[in-house]
Amino acid sequence: MCGIIGYSGPQEAVSVLLDGLAHMEYRGYDSAGVAVEVDGVLRVAKKAGKLANLRAELEARPLPPSHVGIGHTRWATHGGPTDLNAHPHMSSDGRIALVHNGIVENHAAIRAALEERGVEFTSQTDSEVAAQLLGVELAARGDLAEALRACCRALQGAFTLVAIDAQDPGRVVAARRSSPLVVGVGDGENFVASDVAAFINHTRDAIELGQDQVVVITPDSVEITDFDGAPAQARPYRVEWDASTAEKGGYDWFMRKEIFEQPRAIADTLLGRHDERGQLTLDEVRIGPEELRRVDKIVVLACGTAFYAGMVAKYAIEHWTRVPCEVELASEFRYRDPIVDGRTLCITISQSGETMDTLMAIRYAREQGAKVIAICNTNGSTIPRESDAVIYTHAGPEIGVASTKGFTTQLVACYLLGLFLAQVRGTLYGDEIQRVTDELAMLPELVQQVLDGADDIYALARGMVHIEDFVFLGRHVGYPAALEGALKLKELAYLHAEGFAAGELKHGPIAIIDARTPVFVVVPPAGREQLHNKVVSNLQEVRARGAKTIVLAERGDTGVRPHADALIGLPRVSTLLQPVVAIVPLQLFACELATALGNDVDQPRNLAKSVTVE
Ligand code: G6P
Repeated sequence: MCGIIGYSGPQEAVSVLLDGLAHMEYRGYDSAGVAVEVDGVLRVAKKAGKLANLRAELEARPLPPSHVGIGHTRWATHGGPTDLNAHPHMSSDGRIALVHNGIVENHAAIRAALEERGVEFTSQTDSEVAAQLLGVELAARGDLAEALRACCRALQGAFTLVAIDAQDPGRVVAARRSSPLVVGVGDGENFVASDVAAFINHTRDAIELGQDQVVVITPDSVEITDFDGAPAQARPYRVEWDASTAEKGGYDWFMRKEIFEQPRAIADTLLGRHDERGQLTLDEVRIGPEELRRVDKIVVLACGTAFYAGMVAKYAIEHWTRVPCEVELASEFRYRDPIVDGRTLCITISQSGETMDTLMAIRYAREQGAKVIAICNTNGSTIPRESDAVIYTHAGPEIGVASTKGFTTQLVACYLLGLFLAQVRGTLYGDEIQRVTDELAMLPELVQQVLDGADDIYALARGMVHIEDFVFLGRHVGYPAALEGALKLKELAYLHAEGFAAGELKHGPIAIIDARTPVFVVVPPAGREQLHNKVVSNLQEVRARGAKTIVLAERGDTGVRPHADALIGLPRVSTLLQPVVAIVPLQLFACELATALGNDVDQPRNLAKSVTVE
């Protein structure tokens, strides 16, 4: 989710690059850097932290004037947010400077092969692997574009690369596979960048590169080929957005953009999870398999939306590992003298990695001898640093205060972790793990299908602007989905919304339901007959009290139709994975209703993105 830019033209390169990076800082702010070519030599400046740190560095030690360069603002994935891990990365011979966005899945194998040939690495990033490989290819082939194409053919995963060669002044080369890259076509100058926000102050003529394409820009030419060097077509268009809309990718809110980014965020979270033997792996492991096999209790600790992801994790982990699993609010856990010891495994989930209650809870658990595995979106933050193992969600920065892609990627990471534990403990066969892994791989496409139906959900939301109380029901993993749907509505629309376990309906909640109450019901897949039929009974019960039912059910589930005032079709998916697709309409609904009410969706009143006080 990093932001990258390349420039070739008459303007002073460093200031064009810094301006571009400023408009892409929402894509990541762990570090920033630029490289420019000056008299056949590459000059680099890079700094950990926000762009302001790089600006201060460049004011203290300015780079000489140049007319070609590349820049990067980083959202750390492999390697912590340090000066050394900041981009651009150089090849050992100093000829290449390269910036990268994405995840190189086979970085370990390429790194080992290059090290064998004597290449020395200076960072822990997967990105430096691309820089060093490009350097080696360039030395062998002599032409920068040819070398980049060879490099791309060797890399696996998702990546956008932008590079310059000290001995080839005026040329910037770039390539994309599954990560974004647009060309900005100026008058006597050209740009490449992760998105148009980076160059919108200079030109509105853009070209969107296709998959697996390489582009070479000079001040007055743009040449596009595929990875084999054959000329390729890309889509030219004119950007009509203003700068602030461009940063939001054309959406009115960052949150809406983040909802629509979920297919990509989920796909990125699933990338690079297997080693050479096909075994599932975590990102950082400071805990042995023996210890994981000794575990006799699992406790999931989290706050807010992450807690609801934890509730889903409990169902999956117990089902796959047969280890008793509790899930608890981090703020409650610490103050009740919980039973935790050396055989307890804590799983902590935190988008920010800085939530104080969560941090305190894991510190307490570790003091009692427990091991902690963190699921986190923020590389280098405190919670993963203080944990024994980490699995990072690769959602990219989440700017909307209400979590959306943070949540669905947490769910995906929970499934991966559940499968990992089942693999280590031998509670699932390899083919069972593979079956779930294959289904996980389908999720980006299934979430996209739900997003394609957004207009119907928006219409539903706009029809409910006068309503002040909402109820959400679900069973099994549909219950945390209902809770999260209600939370989204509270956070954004400031309305009374409650989620209940559908089975609890008759024990109280049904008393608040009348003809004015819309009731959202998450229906389990029809394949789980018992569970499904129970929820259908609950549907009938609320309908008998006059409530309006909004039913989220598998497409083709004809059994629910007679009981639904509005029906939201979900793609077919197994029960445990259903929250990933079921939450998306509820996010869209809350976002649209809050927009219709005139609320600030990105920064709802009274809320903070990261709660660093207890
Ligand atoms: C705040 C945010 C929520 C988030 C919760 C936990 O309340 O507004 O969106 O779910 O903190 O944050 P974490 O960063 O630990 O996931």
